[in-house]
Amino acid sequence: MCANHIVLIWIFVLLYSVVKISSRFEFTNIECTSLDKKFDDFEYCYLKSINRSYKYLSLKVNLFKTPVTKVKVRGTLFKRYNGYKPFMFNATVDACRFLKNTKSNALASYFWDFIKPHSNMNHTCPYDHDLILDKLSVGFVNQQATTVLPFPEGAYFLETYWMAYDIDRAVVKVYGTLS
Ligand SMILES: *[C@@H]1O[C@H](CO)[C@@H](O)[C@H](O)[C@H]1NC(C)=O
Ligand SMILES: *[C@@H]1O[C@H](CO)[C@@H](O)[C@H](O)[C@H]1NC(C)=O
Ligand SMILES: *[C@@H]1O[C@H](CO)[C@@H](O)[C@H](O)[C@H]1NC(C)=O
Repeated sequence: MCANHIVLIWIFVLLYSVVKISSRFEFTNIECTSLDKKFDDFEYCYLKSINRSYKYLSLKVNLFKTPVTKVKVRGTLFKRYNGYKPFMFNATVDACRFLKNTKSNALASYFWDFIKPHSNMNHTCPYDHDLILDKLSVGFVNQQATTVLPFPEGAYFLETYWMAYDIDRAVVKVYGTLS
């Protein structure tokens, strides 16, 4: 009986590791749109494939009304069923408050860990410079996403609205698949 349990546990561990190893994230697209060209615009925003295993996204947004002292971000995750449907969260974070204490919001903190090592946004408000996300690689996302918070397979996109002074200024959509 004890042996049976051990076998069961082994099967479970094996299955779990197989599922985890086979779950792989890929970027499929990125779209960046300024909603207020007097306030900000994208200098670049692209996905780049160096080879089969090295693919990254980079973007740079120019800010025209610096310093920016009030920033909020609304993030919504969509998953494709018959068309994309909101999935798991649709949440707004006061970015300036969050950056003062990045442990204050678990969801924001999860996504911040992806961005922080690859961005010049890694300081508290105000922002008085262009914002850069530099070479966020699919390998890094995989390392973060599949070990920390396993998601079911499928096609997703993360939509983020960037607000300054409570007005939508830009929207960034990152598309990907988990297989
Ligand atoms: C992919 O490109 C990166 C960066 O140039 C390189 O370090 C890596 O070895 C390459 N991988 C393969 C499989 O060619
Ligand atoms: C997300 O929430 C905002 C405000 O709470 C709402 O305006 C928006 O329609 C919601 N988006 C979705 C896809 O449900
Ligand atoms: C932000 O990131 C840059 C580059 O990685 C680093 O030099 C700097 O010390 C970081 N700043 C903070 C406040 O962590």
